[in-house]
Amino acid sequence: MKGYWLLGALLFNSYSHAASIRSLYLFKDVLKSNTTAIKTTGFNSVIMFGVGILGNGDIMYYSNTPGSSDVLAASNGTYVGGDALAAKVQSFKTGTTGINRVEISMNSQHVKDLMANPGPGPSTPLYRNFAALKAAWGLDAVNNDDESLYDVASTVKFAQMLGQIGYKYTIAPYTNSGFWVSLIKQTNAGLADPNLLLDRVYLQCYDGGAGNNPASWANTLGLKVVPLVWVTNDSKPSQGSTVAQATSKFTAWNSAGGLVGGGYWNDYG
Ligand SMILES: *[C@@H]1O[C@H](CO)[C@@H](O)[C@H](O)[C@H]1NC(C)=O
Ligand SMILES: *[C@@H]1O[C@H](CO)[C@@H](O)[C@H](O)[C@H]1NC(C)=O
Ligand SMILES: *[C@@H]1O[C@H](CO)[C@@H](O)[C@H](O)[C@H]1NC(C)=O
Repeated sequence: MKGYWLLGALLFNSYSHAASIRSLYLFKDVLKSNTTAIKTTGFNSVIMFGVGILGNGDIMYYSNTPGSSDVLAASNGTYVGGDALAAKVQSFKTGTTGINRVEISMNSQHVKDLMANPGPGPSTPLYRNFAALKAAWGLDAVNNDDESLYDVASTVKFAQMLGQIGYKYTIAPYTNSGFWVSLIKQTNAGLADPNLLLDRVYLQCYDGGAGNNPASWANTLGLKVVPLVWVTNDSKPSQGSTVAQATSKFTAWNSAGGLVGGGYWNDYG
């Protein structure tokens, strides 16, 4: 946790305004995470990884954690994920906490099919499930971690559906900037800050994205970015950043410009 605290302190000190984004991806089952630590170490945004859409529009929360089970979270327009999980997710933003934004992260599974049929309308299972999940968990945004499909038209439709429900939309690119440029342009057509629908870019700067330059991505996308580094205790130790390495990366990226914060993938370790 020392690294997390240091990240918070580093980013807080590095920016002249307090609005810098300090994000943490929650890869571990939130029911098993140390929520107190996550809430009090300087982060202001958490992104719950492992949410997914089924072919019928149901929404799953995949545990990714030994001893935990996958949970059906929303089905046929109703929240069914249980009171304990809802209370835990809601608790990120209540009591002693620095967190003011909670997002869920998902890939593009079934988005294209469901946008084609039955479409994004308010009476569809997918729309109603996302509305129910937002209410139950107190969510602020949906994060797109598409690393395979890259279909612009259906993704824009999906983002706009989420916008109607009251979500913001965010992205987590590591490659394929052409797709993300089109997605940002079409999703935000006619909108300006602070009303952007697609309002945050969490840029992967590890593993497949290890060579990413945040300043040039920001320039290409037309949106400032939140570069992410990977913690040390993970499945690919070679991709991990120690506290000192993270400090030096964030400092250099901040000097080069194009940043609105920094973050970590993920909460293991
Ligand atoms: C959770 O984190 C808090 C704050 O860092 C710490 O005091 C506490 O011991 C941790 N709890 C567990 C079970 O690790
Ligand atoms: C789904 O919800 C609708 C509206 O609440 C209800 O009429 C229908 O019976 C439900 N279907 C299933 C399979 O539960
Ligand atoms: C890495 O994570 C695993 C699983 O949480 C834990 O058992 C292990 O102690 C951790 N190792 C280090 C060096 O933090």
